[in-house]
Amino acid sequence: MSRYILSFDQGTTSSRAILFNEQGHIMSVAQKEFTQYFPQPGWVEHDALEIWTTQLTVATEAVLKAGINLQDIAGIGITNQRETTVLWDRHTGQPLHHAIVWQDRRTADYCDSLRQSGAAEMIREKTGLVTDAYFSATKLKWLLDHVPGARAKAQQGDLCFGTIDSWLVWKLTNGQRHVTDVSNASRTMLFNIHTLQWDEELLRLFDIPASVLPEVCSSSEIYGHTQQVLAAAAIPICGIAGDQQAALFGQMCLQPGMVKNTYGTGCFMLMNTGSQPVLSQHNLLTTVAWKIGDEVQYALEGSVFIGGAVVQWLRDGLHLIPNSAAVEALSRQAADNAGVYMVPAFTGLGAPYWNQQARGIIVGLTRGTTDAHLAKAALESIAFQTMDVLTAMEADAGMPVQEMRVDGGATVNEYLMQFQADLIQTRVVRPAITETTALGAAYLAGLAVGVWKDTQTLAQYWQQDAAFTPTMPLATCNEHRRQWQKAVMAALAWTT
Ligand code: G3P
Repeated sequence: MSRYILSFDQGTTSSRAILFNEQGHIMSVAQKEFTQYFPQPGWVEHDALEIWTTQLTVATEAVLKAGINLQDIAGIGITNQRETTVLWDRHTGQPLHHAIVWQDRRTADYCDSLRQSGAAEMIREKTGLVTDAYFSATKLKWLLDHVPGARAKAQQGDLCFGTIDSWLVWKLTNGQRHVTDVSNASRTMLFNIHTLQWDEELLRLFDIPASVLPEVCSSSEIYGHTQQVLAAAAIPICGIAGDQQAALFGQMCLQPGMVKNTYGTGCFMLMNTGSQPVLSQHNLLTTVAWKIGDEVQYALEGSVFIGGAVVQWLRDGLHLIPNSAAVEALSRQAADNAGVYMVPAFTGLGAPYWNQQARGIIVGLTRGTTDAHLAKAALESIAFQTMDVLTAMEADAGMPVQEMRVDGGATVNEYLMQFQADLIQTRVVRPAITETTALGAAYLAGLAVGVWKDTQTLAQYWQQDAAFTPTMPLATCNEHRRQWQKAVMAALAWTT
């Protein structure tokens, strides 16, 4: 009997389902975009019910496409956009409000006031996080404070809070399980990454009643079984990890010092730091990577808010390109960037700058600047931001990174990958399977139900597709870095 693992990859702009076989090969993929709500400048919301229905639709589609029986699915792994905050009624299962998305900045001023009050150091020591609107705690507080009746209901124990993984498990089990895993919990800013428990001092600080919180589990265990969905088959749900931690696992970065960078809506670089949390001296985040059995692994993370989203902006905002793939051809029409640099600080700047008020900037424009230069500057901005994060990571690690494993949509862009390797003067390696996020969740699920014996077995499946080695002269590289720094300084000065 064949045994498959169905991975739910619930991302910021689309819900995806990918079916893997026992060799970790992709059998089928289904994907559906869903609505993005921008009710005010800087606010981003999702409809949690639409997330659920799109996720269920693509799961069914993936199974149908592969032509397998539901009985042959050994387990479901869930990986998700992190931090996005859902609050729902535990009796009716109805969300009280749209989910507040990780990109949403409505609590930025409150975060600034927290920093001014001196709370940031305590928050950082306990959670490994920078005090920023990015994380769930202030979003949840906003919901409890602004949705009429929410706080009273929460105090009566009638509400559930969850990141998207919790919401999906709740829906899949028909309300039987309210859980999350350590990797998602570590992004809420309510979770102590040393004790691996919800932290009472933080709950008091953000005024969050403990009754709304999910139970925190490991990343690989049976949390429950599907109820009344997917043709009513009782399939174990047995792997959960935040999407960036899942990608680190899918990339098989299992040893301390190994690094991956995912080029999605944003860019997320994680370095495995082993069984101990390392607090960054260079403005990176410390996060739980995963927990398997009793073993916990930690990571350092640099989050860049606008990565691939800058290409979407060229497409939808500027109408420079008909589709995202066209950016490579357009950028190649220009031999170089002709001195044009773009800092896409559309929602402030993440690591290592952490400036919530910075805004985007394009510098170096001349009468000779063309759409091709803008496309090149946009693409290069993704590589420059990644370079800044890697520099911080190497400083924290106290040694150069040997290679950076890459995944995500933009890694098909050969120009970007080569430019990236040149800028960081480090080998950039693209694996054969770039669906590493879904793969990581599948691996975590498969380990829990015995599809795979251990991580050593999985490590054998990782294969390289292409490696990009630096060819740019160091002097050119340094000149780029100097100009980029000037552009970043201008973006930081151009605050709202
Ligand atoms: O922290 C946010 C991150 O998890 C979102 O990832 O792939 O949905 O852009 P993605």
